[in-house]
Parts: sequence; C-alpha cells; structure tokens
Amino acid sequence: MPYTDLSLRLTGRTNLPVLPNHVDIDLTNVCNQDCFYCNSADFRAKNLVTGRTNQYLNLLDQLANWRQHTPQSIGSIRNINFTGGGEPTVHKHIGPIMAHAIDKGFQVTLISNGSKLHRVVEGIPKDKIQSVAWIGIDIDSANPETYESIRRSLTRDTLYHTVVKNIKLAVDAGFRVDIKGLLMPQNTNEHELNALFEMVSYTGARQLHIRPYVDMDTNKLFEVTESLKKLIQTVAQKHNVKYRLPLGRETGRTYSKCHQMFLYPILAANGDICVCCEGRGQKKFLLGNWKNQDIRDLWWGEKHLEIYNSVNTHLCPPCKPNKINNLIQEDIDDPSKLERVVM
Ligand SMILES: C[S@@+](CC[C@H](N)C(=O)[O-])C[C@H]1O[C@@H](n2cnc3c(N)ncnc32)[C@H](O)[C@@H]1O
Ligand code: SF4
Ligand code: SF4
Repeated sequence: MPYTDLSLRLTGRTNLPVLPNHVDIDLTNVCNQDCFYCNSADFRAKNLVTGRTNQYLNLLDQLANWRQHTPQSIGSIRNINFTGGGEPTVHKHIGPIMAHAIDKGFQVTLISNGSKLHRVVEGIPKDKIQSVAWIGIDIDSANPETYESIRRSLTRDTLYHTVVKNIKLAVDAGFRVDIKGLLMPQNTNEHELNALFEMVSYTGARQLHIRPYVDMDTNKLFEVTESLKKLIQTVAQKHNVKYRLPLGRETGRTYSKCHQMFLYPILAANGDICVCCEGRGQKKFLLGNWKNQDIRDLWWGEKHLEIYNSVNTHLCPPCKPNKINNLIQEDIDDPSKLERVVM
C-alpha cells in the first residue's frame, strides 16, 4: 500500500523519514475559466503567477534525487500530478515539463479543463505516452449552455468546442483520457447525464469520472442519493460506458490528525509548499517555498511536525485524502496489521 511506510513511522516501528508518495505540481495560477465552485479561486486571485520552466525542471531533478539526498529514508514518489492552482495547460511548456518528469522515472497524471490540451499532445514524444497514467478533463456538462453556466469561460467564445476537439485529439494520439464531472444540481438530471455519457462514447475517452462537488460557502458535499446512484447506473448501462463514482469524501473521519500530510505535498505555482490539497494559500498548511528552499530539507522537519500536531481535522471540509487518512488510522489503531506479509 502507498501508505504502509508512513504507518510504520507513525506507529514508531521506524524512525526513518518517509518520502511522499504523490506530489501535486501547479504549473500556473492563471485560468481561462471561472467555474462557480472553484476551490482555488481566492488563492488564485491573490497569487496570479505562472512558474518558470527551469524552476520546474530543477524541482523535478530534486524530487528524483531525493533518496541520494536523504539516503536514510523509506518510501518513494510514484506519481507526479500536474494540476492547479489555475489551468495547467495555460503553461506554454507543459509538454516538455511532463516529459521531463517521465524521463526522471515518475508516472505522471494531469487534471485539466482541456482548453489547451494540444500542448500536451504535441509536447510529449510518442514513446512516453504510456507513462502518462491518465489525463482527467473536467467538463461537468456536455450540454454547451450548461457547460458555460458552470464553467464561465473567460475567453471571447465558449471553450466548450475547443475542449471536445482536444479530448478527441488526445484520445487519437493514444493518451488514456477520462472525462470528469463534479455532481451538482445543474447536471444530475437524466438529460445531462445522458449527454455526459454520450460524450465519453463520442470522444473515445476511457470512462466518466464523477464525484460530488463541495459548496465552498457551506463546506457541504453535494448529496449523492441512492436514486441518483441508480440513475447514473442506468444511463451508463444504456450507453455501455464505464464510470467511476468515488465517494471517499463522504465517509466519516476516524482521525483527528491529518496523516496524509507526510504523503502528498502540493507545490504551488507561487512557490508555496502546502501540505493540504484543500488549503492552498492557508498559512497553517504552509511548509515553505520550493523555489528558494529545498523541500527535501523541510520534509519531517520541525515545522512539518508542528503543522501535523497543530491541525485538528474536525475543522476540515470534506476532502479527497479522507479515505487514505482513515486507512492509516486503522493501522495506527491496530499496528498488528503491519506485521502481515502478503504473498
Ligand atoms: C482547481 S482544478 C485545477 C485543474 C483544472 N483547471 C481543472 O479544472 O481541472 C483541480 C480540481 O479541483 C476540483 N475542484 C475544484 N473546486 C472543487 C470543489 N468545490 N469541489 C470539488 N472539487 C473541486 C476540480 O474539479 C478539478 O478536478
Ligand atoms: S478551470 Fe479549474 S482552476 Fe479554473 S476555475 Fe475551473 S476548476 Fe478552477
Ligand atoms: S482538509 Fe484537513 S484532513 Fe483533508 S487533507 Fe486538508 S488538512 Fe488533511
């Protein structure tokens, strides 16, 4: 399991620092849309920056050499996810930066609105495409009017048609593309769901990845009722299209400390090293600055432990790492689980 080394450390079975398993890299805080729900809108407005290409190449070199830098350590980075902040494909050199990550031995993933996905298709050499685990394109709706009412393109014309064209371009080039949507009142009727599943067939994407949105005003998760689950299943069957409906954010919290803070840093475009994927720009999650500090020297340092010990998750909104935090807590509550060797 990606978290087993961390469980060993948190249960006192090793004193070695554990390397992160997954790193989010924001290439820019600039965005060409203004989705009404966006959880990074405030952070973006205050830090409207794009990182420089050579800074990202150096950063990837540092991450790749972490074991040489800290020989007495366990765990390893498996995945680099390019996301935002803003819209990652707005960065002109996204293709070469992703290709560099692949050359350094990382599996890469991309979360994007797809508006400039052609830069990825053109910038990643064919022989590296298999190292891109998946590209997730957030569209929320396959009905152009609904799409625009949710995603509010900041361009003269809607980005909808460009995005559809780019999804096909990436699929045809051999990338594994998932179409993504946040479930919300606007897109959870039969007509909208039909359009979304049809879009997966039309573009040749791999599947539909849907999950409830979090209302940023109330911190509440959109309720995925049993009847909605049934409707989704029926529509998926009708179109013979695969879908994923992860509901990990919905389950209760069994942990009061956020263990994933040692597994999953967010390296923001302004240089922030943030240890909470929901907390870009919040001082209480700020470990340092990757542009003028070396993240490898800060990891498991005094500040990191201070953040871990001071954050009480009972004040947190529903979040993506909920599932992994619950699993780590299970190990902490019953460390004998760590003694089992699976053959
Ligand atoms: C901030 S976006 C940046 C990447 C890219 N611009 C995009 O839209 O895919 C990263 C991810 O956060 C998700 N996200 C943003 N606001 C959210 C919210 N209020 N609830 C749940 N997910 C959210 C988006 O759906 C997207 O998958
Ligand atoms: S495209 Fe992504 S970053 Fe931009 S507003 Fe929408 S969710 Fe936020
Ligand atoms: S919201 Fe809270 S529990 Fe979730 S990742 Fe952030 S700090 Fe951890």
